[in-house]
Amino acid sequence: MERELALEIVRVTELGALAAARWTGRGDKMAADDAATTAIRTMFDSVSIDGTVVIGEGEMDEAPMLYIGERVGNRRGPAVDIAVDPLEGTEVVASGLHNAQSIIAVADRGTLLHAPDIYMEKLACGPELAGKLSLDDDHETTVRRASALTGKALSDLTVLVLDRKRHEALIATLRRLGVRIRLIGHGDVAGAIAAALPDSNVDLYMGSGGAPEGVLAAAALRCLGGEIQGRLLPENAVDLQRCLSMGITHPAHILTMEDMAGTGDVIFAATGIASGEFLSGVRQLSKDRAETHSVIMRASSRTIRYLRTIHYLPGKVIPQGTSESVDMAAG
Ligand code: FBP
Repeated sequence: MERELALEIVRVTELGALAAARWTGRGDKMAADDAATTAIRTMFDSVSIDGTVVIGEGEMDEAPMLYIGERVGNRRGPAVDIAVDPLEGTEVVASGLHNAQSIIAVADRGTLLHAPDIYMEKLACGPELAGKLSLDDDHETTVRRASALTGKALSDLTVLVLDRKRHEALIATLRRLGVRIRLIGHGDVAGAIAAALPDSNVDLYMGSGGAPEGVLAAAALRCLGGEIQGRLLPENAVDLQRCLSMGITHPAHILTMEDMAGTGDVIFAATGIASGEFLSGVRQLSKDRAETHSVIMRASSRTIRYLRTIHYLPGKVIPQGTSESVDMAAG
């Protein structure tokens, strides 16, 4: 993949973020998601790739755009897999909360995992701990090992966790050990990335979130030299069947970062919609100017590039988004 592609990809996430941000706090997560999805789908037409959506908005019969298997790009570039979350944090945008972003990962064809939309248990860390922890260990063993390996006292170690009832036991263990906890309401791609960013003050990301988000995080962590391990958590026979139909024959096995995001080149781009763990959200500077803040990374160089863009809005077509089209898709 040419490195210029990274800049083309971030232009796509920027438009997704600009479109979704218009729905901030308006209580309509479907419209926010539709706006971002339409923006991203439209922008992809001008990108020089022959892309196939592997992680997207759902199966072909349930999503009108960016469905799994959809071909995107102008077909004049490399054959690639696409993982896309036009709006990670639908509830965040709808309620005017914290931590939402537009995210795309591009990887060599055939290298991204087809992950079903079920929960995945995750453990993510930065380069210092990469390769040294195991999702098979219990939570206490993991944080004690992280403490020993980093030389940080348990009370100086920070673990980021999604604030969910299902994480009560994990949080109780961390509290008993005196570990610092950062609870986030939504957005565990950003949460996992935070564990691997050099300046985030987060050592580990632990707990369960969406499996598709796990693949996006794996793409990002490959670019950061960190690590994420995942284990799918099928809750019933239907979930299990979905795993099998996607070629995952042993769902209880640990998925390595390479299982999820391959070993070839990866480009990862994200643009903040609502300010979060490492990106600022969209700011409307005036009636015709808005600012976005993005990150662009590549696995082959491991450069972390932040991009602040001031957009001239009259020169852009930003999809409005409606609840209706997404309702139809859901129904
Ligand atoms: P959506 O944008 O689909 O709402 O996802 C937000 C998110 O917080 C993800 O980052 C995370 O993986 C997942 O939801 C966790 O799911 P749940 O809210 O059911 O715990």
